[in-house]
Amino acid sequence: MTDDSREPFRGGTGTVADFLASFDGDVDAAIAALRAHHGGTPPVARVPRRPRRERSGDHIITVSDLRKTYKMGRQKVSALGGVSLEIDRGEFVALTGASGSGKSTLLQIIGGLDKPSGGTVLVDGVDIGRLGDAKLSRFRNRTIGFVFQFFYLQPFLRLATNTEVPGMFARTPRKQRRAQALSLIEEVGLSDRSRHLPREMSGGQMQRAAIARALLNQPAVLLADEPTGNLDSATGASIIELFERIRDEFGTTIVIVTHDDDLALRADRTIRLSDGVIVAQDVVA
Ligand SMILES: Nc1ncnc2c1ncn2[C@@H]1O[C@H](COP(=O)(O)OP(=O)(O)OP(=O)(O)O)[C@@H](O)[C@H]1O
Ligand SMILES: [Mg+2]
Repeated sequence: MTDDSREPFRGGTGTVADFLASFDGDVDAAIAALRAHHGGTPPVARVPRRPRRERSGDHIITVSDLRKTYKMGRQKVSALGGVSLEIDRGEFVALTGASGSGKSTLLQIIGGLDKPSGGTVLVDGVDIGRLGDAKLSRFRNRTIGFVFQFFYLQPFLRLATNTEVPGMFARTPRKQRRAQALSLIEEVGLSDRSRHLPREMSGGQMQRAAIARALLNQPAVLLADEPTGNLDSATGASIIELFERIRDEFGTTIVIVTHDDDLALRADRTIRLSDGVIVAQDVVA
């Protein structure tokens, strides 16, 4: 970094806007310069510390060189700059990283809710980028459960019916899906709330409800974006315990996005993103 007039951090002053302006608003070029400044693609550190679970090597998720660029008028925003990772069947992984580092984008693409600009995602052996819309939504409904930060429960449906919704899309017979819903509601500790509307439940209860609903079709993979983001830390911890139990009881592969380092440490592995690339992967002790 001697003679580059666009050296990003010279002097350590200047705003992000000044910095971007020096690249004529070309965000990709700016990020590339930042990466170069930090010595190229950041090294991926793997720090094994007494793994709680052996990794099986049976990959249920394989992400290869995933890229995502959003076009905003003439400006391009690179959200993912070549992410590759593998997640084992039954593994519990936490995605961490600063705001804007690409966590939600990665989770959405793994779950087939968004399309990448490049690269591939295999889920349970299926290259989801090759599925047409109808096949993709069927695959998603059967294989993947989503839990979002703001729950997205239907406000006018009681808990039992809310939980049944994915079974309706999967055309599970009514009696069967009701039985599955009630059993999951019991699993998440809400048996005495099955006739409640979402507005009659607390935040932690709504999150449990959203988890029960996500599990209805017995998905192989459960994806959760900031599942504890809205909750106080004790309630958040109880949600994480619930994930652990689900993983242990059903063998579900769980990938959560979280800002909370304490919660991330409860996972088998953390994967940290920065500026759309993986900068560290740690097996949690
Ligand atoms: N629909 C979109 N259009 C344009 N840019 C987007 C869009 N969605 C995300 N981005 C940009 O992509 C980058 C990654 O966003 P993403 O939502 O994946 O970050 P994140 O790590 O989930 O952040 P947070 O912790 O704040 O939720 C950000 O710079 C964001 O501004
Ligand atoms: Mg996000």
